[in-house]
Amino acid sequence: MDHAFGTTYKTGWAPMPPSPPPSPTSPVPPRAPSPARPSSPPPSPISIMKIAVFSAKPYDREYLSRARDGAYVSVELVFHDFALSRETVSLAKGAQAICVFVNDTLSEDVLEDLHNLDIHAILLRCAGFNHVDLKAADRLRIFVANVPSYSPEAVAEFALALIQTLNRKTHRAYNRVREGNFSLDGLLGKTLHGKTVGIVGVGKIGIALARILRGFGCKLIAHDPYPTDAFLEFGKYASLDELLPQCDFISLHCPLTESTRHIINDQSLAKIKKGAMLVNTSRGGLIHTKSAIAALKNQQLGGLALDVYEAEGQLFYQDHSGDIIQDDELMRLMTFPNVIVCGHQAFFTEEALTEIAECTLKNFSDFIQNMPCKNALVSLGSSLVRKDSVPVRI
Ligand SMILES: NC(=O)c1ccc[n+]([C@@H]2O[C@H](COP(=O)([O-])OP(=O)(O)OC[C@H]3O[C@@H](n4cnc5c(N)ncnc54)[C@H](O)[C@@H]3O)[C@@H](O)[C@H]2O)c1
Repeated sequence: MDHAFGTTYKTGWAPMPPSPPPSPTSPVPPRAPSPARPSSPPPSPISIMKIAVFSAKPYDREYLSRARDGAYVSVELVFHDFALSRETVSLAKGAQAICVFVNDTLSEDVLEDLHNLDIHAILLRCAGFNHVDLKAADRLRIFVANVPSYSPEAVAEFALALIQTLNRKTHRAYNRVREGNFSLDGLLGKTLHGKTVGIVGVGKIGIALARILRGFGCKLIAHDPYPTDAFLEFGKYASLDELLPQCDFISLHCPLTESTRHIINDQSLAKIKKGAMLVNTSRGGLIHTKSAIAALKNQQLGGLALDVYEAEGQLFYQDHSGDIIQDDELMRLMTFPNVIVCGHQAFFTEEALTEIAECTLKNFSDFIQNMPCKNALVSLGSSLVRKDSVPVRI
């Protein structure tokens, strides 16, 4: 098979014009068989293009199938429940592309295997690409594209949900009331109106959170080394050192890079206002977990809500309820009454899944038709990722 680079696939590939997104709650419509027309000449065969989808959860199957049925009927999706690795890569054989998520392995040797299987496109159904060896993809002329943005409001709204759960202690109230305990002791919160919230990173999600918090009547301070005017209508910018002592709540929305790894550590936690609450829906590596545990123990940190966790790769997105979990730091965190841990679900809305599925198939369509793809990370044998910013994100 020809590489797609420089060679358009001649397959009868016919993406249909985009149709309005189906109602998220409607069932996946079955593909109707074409009615037989005996008097007309046989149609020219349309090659079905195959995408092998790894780490496929039931919701991936549902939303990718919907997007395919809506606009890309000549694509066959072959779903595999398990992650892509050296052991499983051979199951991609016969496909033109693979579609992967955050915990699939895309190391150099796996990319070599993909290349040997004549697979020339990797479709990331996530924003983050830290798990892809882009240099190797470049060398092997494998196209890689991601979904850089999907429903920033979904993540911002989840951050707000965590702020208020932590603050108003509804996680404790839920359990308590179910046991017939209607006491309010220990459930005292703060009125959010008038409180100061620090937003670290005011890109798409940070701005969406600022918009929500303005509605609550909060004072907003942002730290972002690449400030834009977009935040100025909501509040003021400050350095991290200035922001930390002023805020009652701090929400992290910057990417994980070498410079932001463990941005929340012993030193920065010592600077926060005593009892301030911290929310992280961005990336686990932003927080040094041991430091957070120490700050919770001495009550410098008044609460911690995590949607992401530094060592989440081994645990998240799987059911480990029957296992002995070996991660002592995570287990310690979960003993605190003022800690909430969720399993990386801030993005998980019907709207975001629809956007992810449609964008993933559009990236494939661009690749197959040799069209410029705005989400390409490696294309025509050259990395399109800015060398000075390597965001690590889902
Ligand atoms: N939990 C989830 O389900 C989920 C889903 C999507 C994204 N995310 C996370 O959310 C993060 C933000 O996503 P986004 O779409 O808003 O990204 P974005 O690129 O639009 O915004 C990131 C912002 O962070 C800023 N930034 C960079 N370095 C910084 C630093 N050292 N300190 C402070 N700010 C810094 C950038 O200038 C930018 O304004 C992502 O990096 C990702 O890790 C999580």
